[in-house]
Amino acid sequence: MGLSFSEQGERSFQAILQKYPADKKKAALIPTLCLAQKEWGHLSPEAMEYVAGRLDVAPSEVQNTATFYTMLLKEPVGRYHVQVCTNLSCFLRGSDELMHHCEKKLGIHHGETTADGLFTLNHVECLASCGTAPMMQVNDDYFENLTPERVDELIEGWRKTARSDAP
Ligand code: FES
Repeated sequence: MGLSFSEQGERSFQAILQKYPADKKKAALIPTLCLAQKEWGHLSPEAMEYVAGRLDVAPSEVQNTATFYTMLLKEPVGRYHVQVCTNLSCFLRGSDELMHHCEKKLGIHHGETTADGLFTLNHVECLASCGTAPMMQVNDDYFENLTPERVDELIEGWRKTARSDAP
């Protein structure tokens, strides 16, 4: 059986559609892709095809859009998706050091996921929070004015949460 949105997902999809004229469903493409990513963690070829069908858009167009936006994930990621901004303002305030620190702490490099599936690490372009550089985004949250010590605290906290959630 093919993919379909959960009940809650379907409600969110209908709410998205209502923001656009009925004959311009294509305008809802990006919010719908974000919703699909929320539903399934990443945009698999099946998920993109599903979105194309729901919006009457060519699958190739959905794929092109998903490929263009780095925040749209084409591959599965860990429970915590750590994205360190390494653009200019963050770079000037130590983001390279921070990225190396994350690599050492997690034992992975850019684009990799830890063996336990807990963390995926990426460096990314400006996340529009330059005034609080250096910063990173983890899932939907921003962590700003970071230091290596603060990163350690955060990672340890997430590891602890994962341990306490384990059956
Ligand atoms: S340069 Fe890092 S948020 Fe803009």
